[in-house]
Amino acid sequence: MTRKFNPSPALRDLATIMRPEDAEQPILAKPVRDALHQWMTEIRAEKELRAVGVPARRSAILSGPPGCGKTTLAHHLAARLGLALVSVNLDAVRGMYIGETGKNLSAAFTALEGQSDLCILFLDELDAVASKRSSDDSSGSREMNSVVNGLLQRMESFRGMLIGATNRAAVIDPAVWRRFGLHLDIALPGEDERFAIITRYLSPFTLPEEAIGMLADATEGAAPSLLRQLMEGVKRDLILSPRLSRETGAAAVFERLIAMVRPHPDYTPPPLWTDFNTKARIAEAMTWPPTPPDAPETA
Ligand SMILES: Nc1ncnc2c1ncn2[C@@H]1O[C@H](COP(=O)(O)OP(=O)(O)OP(=O)(O)O)[C@@H](O)[C@H]1O
Ligand SMILES: [Mg+2]
Repeated sequence: MTRKFNPSPALRDLATIMRPEDAEQPILAKPVRDALHQWMTEIRAEKELRAVGVPARRSAILSGPPGCGKTTLAHHLAARLGLALVSVNLDAVRGMYIGETGKNLSAAFTALEGQSDLCILFLDELDAVASKRSSDDSSGSREMNSVVNGLLQRMESFRGMLIGATNRAAVIDPAVWRRFGLHLDIALPGEDERFAIITRYLSPFTLPEEAIGMLADATEGAAPSLLRQLMEGVKRDLILSPRLSRETGAAAVFERLIAMVRPHPDYTPPPLWTDFNTKARIAEAMTWPPTPPDAPETA
C-alpha cells in the first residue's frame, strides 16, 4: 500500500502544507531550468550515483529578489516529485522567549521524522533563522547563534529533502549556505522570460508577438510578480472600462495601470514607469485592445 503524507497537529501549527495539485510552473532562465532538470534526473538516479560513490544532492537554496518565483519553484519541484511541500512558517517559529525559536524549528524537523520521504521541507525566508553568527555578546546575538547552531545540527542529520529560500543571500551564515547541495540564483527575468510571463498572465486574452515584445522591452527590470499584477490589471481594465465609461486606448489603460501598480522604491523602475519615449511608443504603435478568448481567428 502507498503511504500518504500525514502531517501531525504540531506540524500543522508550524507549517503550511502545499499539495502537488496546486503547484504552478515558474518561467525561468535557461541555465536555471537546465540545473533543475539535472537535479530532478539526479534524484531519480540516486542508486546509480551511490554505486559510484557520489551522493544525489538532497538540498537547494534559492536566492534572488522578491517576486521572482522562489516559493513557486519550491512548490513546483515538490509537485514534480509527487511530494507535498512543508513550508515552515518562520513567523510561527520565531518565539518571543529565549530558546523558543530554536525549539520550534527543531520541533518542525522532529515532526517530519518517519515521513521525510513523503515531502520536501521548505524553509522560506531562511534569513530569519540563519543569519551570520556574530561574536558580540548581546543576548540577541547569543540567541541567533544558538538558533543557527541548532539548524546546522538538524541539517546534518536530516534524511529528507530540504529547500531554503531567501532574498537576502548576503546575510546567510556561510556554514548554513555550504550545507545546501545546490545554490540557485533566481534572478530578475531576461527579455525572453518577460515575453513568456506577459503572455501567460495576459491569457486568455492575446496580443500579436510584436506588441508583447514591446511590453517585454518596456518592462526591463520588472519582477515576474510585478508583470503578473500588470497583466491582471490589463484584464481588469478590459472588463471594467465599459461599465465605467472611460477611455480604452493603450495610452489611457497603461496610464491608469502604472498609477496603481508599481515596483518597490528599492528597485530601479522599468522604463514603462519612467521613460517618456517608451510610453509614447506604446500609445502610438501598440496593437490594442488585446483579442478576447472567444473572438474568431483573423487571417
Ligand atoms: N518566474 C516566474 N514565472 C511565472 N510567474 C511567477 C514567477 N515568479 C513569480 N511569479 C508569480 O509571482 C507571484 C510571487 O511569486 P513567489 O512568491 O514565488 O516569489 P518569491 O521569489 O518567493 O518572492 P519573495 O522573495 O517575496 O518570497 C506568484 O503568484 C507567481 O505566480
Ligand atoms: Mg517566497
